[in-house]
Amino acid sequence: MSEIIKLIKRVPKAELHLHIEGSLEPELMFKLAKRNKIKIPFGSVDEIKIAYNFHNLQSFLDIYYQGAKVLISEQDFFDLTWAYLLKSKEDNVVHTEIFFDPQSHTDRGIKFDLVINGIHRAILKAKKELGISSKIIMCFLRHLDEQSAFKTLDQALTHKDKIIGVGLDSSEVGYPPSKFERVFNKAMEEGFLTVAHAGEEGPSEYIWQALELLKVKRIDHGVRCLEDEKLVQRLRDDQIPLTVCPLSNVKLRIFKKLKDHNLKMLLDKGLITTVNSDDPAYFGGYLNTNLIKCQMALNLTKGDIKKLIINSFRSSFLSEDKKKKWIEQINKLV
Ligand code: ADE
Ligand code: ZN
Repeated sequence: MSEIIKLIKRVPKAELHLHIEGSLEPELMFKLAKRNKIKIPFGSVDEIKIAYNFHNLQSFLDIYYQGAKVLISEQDFFDLTWAYLLKSKEDNVVHTEIFFDPQSHTDRGIKFDLVINGIHRAILKAKKELGISSKIIMCFLRHLDEQSAFKTLDQALTHKDKIIGVGLDSSEVGYPPSKFERVFNKAMEEGFLTVAHAGEEGPSEYIWQALELLKVKRIDHGVRCLEDEKLVQRLRDDQIPLTVCPLSNVKLRIFKKLKDHNLKMLLDKGLITTVNSDDPAYFGGYLNTNLIKCQMALNLTKGDIKKLIINSFRSSFLSEDKKKKWIEQINKLV
């Protein structure tokens, strides 16, 4: 194993773009389907893996929402989150910021409180037993209407102690951030931080809207920003981080091959670029796999890897003190 790959594995890392429902491994999907007596349209783990051949974001989301239907009880959400945190431990991930999609559960009659309590219980246990810190970000599904988002925000108000921010995900094209300006304003009044998926499949105009209208602290994906030089300048001037998900982008055909990915270009343009796994159970790997495959495909230097890892801590919602502590440790190791 090369020195740089050993280094990637060894260094403490943060992950800022991870959908907990997207960490549902086929084996756990089967186990939960059995436990909850839910029929899934797959006969075996191998059949599931064959179905994970996507041609765009929507073809993935259709299977992702289908998979999430096996999640019923608080224990299921605990088990799902705990499994992800154990994987994080293996990868030396010491801080995670986890997205969840409450509407994909409440629309099936699952109680909001049960979802958040299951996820939260697992992150408390991980803090104690694995030394991993976490934040939770609640995403609105952009293919649903504003009224549904307002209702979801209302349900989150009694869980402000557990949820640090709100985000926006699901089908992008045709569902601009502007549709959610009012609900994001209300969320900010209530004290939530904001992030949004933008410029994944959708145009760079959606990144502008996320910045101007939703006042986001980070852009999730944002890889299409390079189509607009003024936008690149704005992202750089305001030091707005991008949570890039390279293996996801290849699986969803944003880029044909990993060697065509613009990650290195984003870094070289001085943007606060981070690497993340998005939906690791569906896209072929967790954080270390993303970093290692990118290093190999894009010839990333030790300096690039160090920058990516430091950027993730810098861009996190940790306190300034904690960020400083981790960055000092990385500076000692790399
Ligand atoms: N939900 C889960 N993964 C997503 C992605 N990559 N883009 C938009 N919505 C998502
Ligand atoms: Zn995502």
